[in-house]
Amino acid sequence: MDGRDLVRSVRVVGSSKAAQGLRTVRAAWRRRRIDAAGLPARGAERARVPGPVQGAEPGPGGGVIRFSRSELRITVAVNGAVFWGWDGAGPEPSYALAGRCPEPDPRAVLEPDTDGGWRVVAERVTVSVSRHGAVEVCTPGGVMLRRDLPPRWWEPVGGGAARWVQRSEVAADARFFGLGGRASGPRLRDGTYRLWNTDPGRAFGPGDDPLYITMPVQLVVADAAAHLVFHDSSWDGTVTLREGEEGAGSGHDRTGRCELRMDGGPLRCWVMVGTPGRVLHTWASLTGAPALPPAWALGHHHARWGFGSEQEVRRIVAGYQERGLPLDAVHLDIDHYDAHQVFTVDHERFPKLPTLAEELRRDGIRLVSIVDPAVKAEPGNAVYDSGTSVDAFVRDPSGRTVEGVVWPGEGVFPDFTDARVRAWWGGLYEERLALGFAGFWHDMNEPTSFSAFGESTLPRSARHALEGRGGDHREAHNVYALCMARAAYEGLRGLAPGERPFLFSRSGWAGVQRYGGTWSGDVATGWPGLRASLSLVLGLGLCGVPYSGPDVGGYDGSPSPELFLRWFQLGAYLPLFRTHAGIRAGRREPWEFGAEVLEHARVALLERRRLLPYFMTLAQLARRTGAPYVRPVWWGAPEDRALRDCEDAFLLGDALLVAPVLDPGADRRAVQLPRGRWYDTVTEQAYEGPGQVLVDAPLSRIPVLARAGAVLPVRDEDGGTQLEVWAPARGRTGGGLFVPDAGDGWEEPEVERYVARWEGRHVVVRRDDESGVSKPSRPVRVRGLG
Ligand code: NOJ
Repeated sequence: MDGRDLVRSVRVVGSSKAAQGLRTVRAAWRRRRIDAAGLPARGAERARVPGPVQGAEPGPGGGVIRFSRSELRITVAVNGAVFWGWDGAGPEPSYALAGRCPEPDPRAVLEPDTDGGWRVVAERVTVSVSRHGAVEVCTPGGVMLRRDLPPRWWEPVGGGAARWVQRSEVAADARFFGLGGRASGPRLRDGTYRLWNTDPGRAFGPGDDPLYITMPVQLVVADAAAHLVFHDSSWDGTVTLREGEEGAGSGHDRTGRCELRMDGGPLRCWVMVGTPGRVLHTWASLTGAPALPPAWALGHHHARWGFGSEQEVRRIVAGYQERGLPLDAVHLDIDHYDAHQVFTVDHERFPKLPTLAEELRRDGIRLVSIVDPAVKAEPGNAVYDSGTSVDAFVRDPSGRTVEGVVWPGEGVFPDFTDARVRAWWGGLYEERLALGFAGFWHDMNEPTSFSAFGESTLPRSARHALEGRGGDHREAHNVYALCMARAAYEGLRGLAPGERPFLFSRSGWAGVQRYGGTWSGDVATGWPGLRASLSLVLGLGLCGVPYSGPDVGGYDGSPSPELFLRWFQLGAYLPLFRTHAGIRAGRREPWEFGAEVLEHARVALLERRRLLPYFMTLAQLARRTGAPYVRPVWWGAPEDRALRDCEDAFLLGDALLVAPVLDPGADRRAVQLPRGRWYDTVTEQAYEGPGQVLVDAPLSRIPVLARAGAVLPVRDEDGGTQLEVWAPARGRTGGGLFVPDAGDGWEEPEVERYVARWEGRHVVVRRDDESGVSKPSRPVRVRGLG
C-alpha cells in the first residue's frame, strides 16, 4: 500500500483506519485473483497493417476501400462529419452517438485519386486514402489538416482483442486541446495522456493525469482550420502528443505528431472540420445537445462534505441570508446518508429533510443530493435487496457478484450498461424526489473501488451487458458514468416529466452532456489548483461538455483569504459556481475569510446574479449550437497565434472576456485581447485589440471586459431583464442574442436577436430577427459612451 492509498483508506469515515486498510488490501487481492482467472494471458501476438489497396466500392456518402489485410469504410454524414472505420467497423453501436448515426450525404462520392489511392470529396473536407492506407484530411482548398499513417494492429495468436496504434501528423502550427478534463491544459503540451477514467485518490494538481473524465476527443487548431477527431473506442489507451514547429526563415517545418494506442475496440473515428464554432456544432449534432440546466442551477451552490445535520445546513443558509449573499442551492454529501449507504437518510441528524427542502425552496434555494453508484452489500439493505432481485450487479466471469470497497464498506456495482438495470436505478430517484431534492451530484463513478495497490476500480475481467453484446470492464469502464447519468436522466424524466433534470457527474465520456454537466473533482487547494480548475472547464467545453466548474477554494486544506477570493471571483463566471470541500478541509463560507473578502465575494455573487439572464442565454445557445459558455480567447480568431497560446483568460459567450487572477499578490495583469475594442466593465475604460494590455486587477475584482457593440441580457434591480449594450466603435455595429428564461420545464423560448448601431449621436438597439425589425422587448442601457 503506498502513501496515497493509505490516505485514501484513512479518508473513509466511520470505520477504523486499520479495518478499512485491511478491506482495501483484500479488495486489491480479490481484483487480481479475478483478473488472473478471468482474462486471457496476452501471449504471442501477430502484427498487421492494411497492406496494398485492392479495390473500392462506392456507397452512399463514400464507400469501402479494400486492402489486402483490411478494409476501410468511409462515410460523409449529412451534418458534414466524416466517419471512417477499419476492418469494416461501422459507426454503430456507439455510446457516444445520440441515437442513430446521421444519414450519409449523397453528394459525397468516392473517386480514384492519383497513385492508386482513393478520395472522398465533400463540401467541407476532402479525405484521401493512399494505396497503403494513409488517410489524409484536407480543407476544400487542399491544405492538409491531418494525416493518419496506415494503422497497425497486434492480434493475439490465440484470439482476443487486438491492440492497435494510429500515428498521425498535423500542421506544424497546430495546437492540441481536449481529451476530456485535463488539469495541465487547456493547451495539451508534449506528453502522454491516458484514456482511463481515474480517481487520483487525493486532491489533484496540474501534474496529475489521468483524472475522472477522459475522452478520445481531440480538438486540433491550426491556421488552415480547426478539426475535431473522435476515436470511438472506450478501451484503455494513451495519446502521445508532440507539437510541431515552424521553420524560422528558410528552416523546415516539423509537423505535429499524435500517437494513439488502444488496448482494444474498433479502430474507427469521426472527423469534423471548420471554425471552432462549426466543429462544436457538428459534434453536438452527433453526440447530442447539452442538457439545459434549470435556471436555479446557474446561480450559486454551496456544498460541504460534513454539514453533519439539518441545524448546520440551516445555520449556513442563515449565514448567507443575514449577509445578503445570494444562494441558489445547497448540496448534501454522503454524511447525510445512513452509514454512507446511497438512497438512505441518517434520520437522527436529518430527521425532516422534506421540511428542510420545502423551507429552502420557499427562499429560492434547492437541495441537491450526492449519489454514489456502489451499493452496500448487505442483505436487509433495501437497495441491495431490490438490486439483487433484478440481478443488477456486475459479476465476475465465474458468475459471482464483484465486490469492491467504497464509503459504506464492501459494495456492489450496478451494471449501467444494461437497459434493464438503468430502468431499475432510475426508479430509485423517486425516494430522493420525495425527500425534496431537486438535483443530483454523481460521484465515485469512474467507478472507484478503493484498493491498497494497483488500480482503484473494478477488475478488468468483470462482466458487463454492454447493451446485450456482452463484454468486460476493459470496454465498459470509461462509459460506466455516462450510462449512470443516462439511467438517472431517463429515470427523472419519467418521475417528474414536467421538470428538466439537473445532474452533474464526476466521471463521464463523450456524450455525457446529453444528461448533464460535470465538476472538476477534488482539486488541490493552492494556486496551481486554481489554474487547473480553469483548464478543466475549458478543455471539457471543447469536448462538448459546456456545464462544469471547480470546487471553489479547492477541495483540501485551507486556502489563504486571497486564494479563496480569487477562486470565488473566477467561479462566479463559470457555468457551475459551487463552493465545496472535503470533510477535513477548512471552511469555505465567504464570511470565514475576514470582512474584506466577504465584501468582495458579495460583489462577485451579486454580479453573478445580475448576469443570470446572460448565463441562461448561453445555456440555451449551448443546447442549440454546442458552443460552450466558457470559450478559449481564440474561439473567434483561431488563426491569431498569440490568442491560441493564451491559457489564462477566457471568453464567456461572445460578449465578455474574463481575465481571472491566477497568481498571488497580483493587482494588475496582462490580457491578450482579440481584435476590436474592449471595455473594462467596471471603469468603462476602452482598450483596442488585437494585442496585449495591462489592466487593473485589485483584490475587489478580476478584470472582465465587454466587447464593443455587445448586447447582453442582465437582471435589473427589480428582477426584470435589461439589455446592456456596450457602445460599438464609431462606424461599426454590434449585436447579441437573448433567450428568455425557460423556467424549469421544457418550453423552448424563441431566440431574440438584437442589433446595435450608431444613429447620429446615439447608440440605437433594434430587435432584428424572423419577426422583422422592432423595438427591443426590454429596457436598454448603453454603456461605454464616456
Ligand atoms: C469524492 C468527491 O470528489 C468529493 O467531492 C466528495 O466530497 C467525497 N467523494 C465524499 O462524498
